[in-house]
Amino acid sequence: MAKKEIEIKVSGKKLQVESGIPLIKALWSEGLPEEIQTGCMGGACGACTVTVRYSDGRKGKSDLACMMLTEEGMEVFPYRIEAVSQIPPLSINPNLQNLKKSFPTLDRCTKCGSCTAACPMDIPVMDSISRMQGNEFDKVAEDFVSCVHCGLCRFVCEDNVKPHNMALWIRRSLASSEEKLETQKSDSFSNVDETEEWTFLLSADPKERLKRAEVFRETGGVPK
Ligand code: SF4
Ligand code: SF4
Ligand code: FES
Repeated sequence: MAKKEIEIKVSGKKLQVESGIPLIKALWSEGLPEEIQTGCMGGACGACTVTVRYSDGRKGKSDLACMMLTEEGMEVFPYRIEAVSQIPPLSINPNLQNLKKSFPTLDRCTKCGSCTAACPMDIPVMDSISRMQGNEFDKVAEDFVSCVHCGLCRFVCEDNVKPHNMALWIRRSLASSEEKLETQKSDSFSNVDETEEWTFLLSADPKERLKRAEVFRETGGVPK
């Protein structure tokens, strides 16, 4: 059966391509691999992010060229988004104050919504900026689970807020401070001498005992 040929436009060039195949594959078949950047080819790295317009009146959107399929009349706009160097995460106490020190542009956000509209992964980027400002870092970490770090939310932000870089900093900082806490806990446990503990518990002043119990609840170990 003959393959159905359709017409699409990529960077303004008209192309006749097979219908319903991944956009990247269509470009390769046309000998144009350099039109759109590629990386993982599996929807994970964000290198191939493009924006698309449709001729049938459907709303345009951002998408991943390795995952989207060719359709009659689609118009594709690729662009290269330069990577920026990442700010190292903190391994203890990531909070709003520390976030602002590393990313002083956080409060420039005007809540214009462009980042949310641009995100190919449907992440509520603008709302998550508000959660960052409210110190709700666990929720931010969840918001950005599917982020492919294409950089589009940074690219469209006129106020240089860098949403995905901040989210990455938060996710990495939370992960390293949890790791540090686990190490501290296991260090504390390894230093517990059972006989000493019983002697202390049977003889200590009740206030001292309570204080020690509070430390144990917080850290999983007892003061050395
Ligand atoms: S594009 Fe920038 S200013 Fe607009 S909501 Fe997103 S982060 Fe805020
Ligand atoms: S949050 Fe930003 S970097 Fe992450 S996928 Fe969405 S647009 Fe790309
Ligand atoms: S090439 Fe990695 S997401 Fe498309």
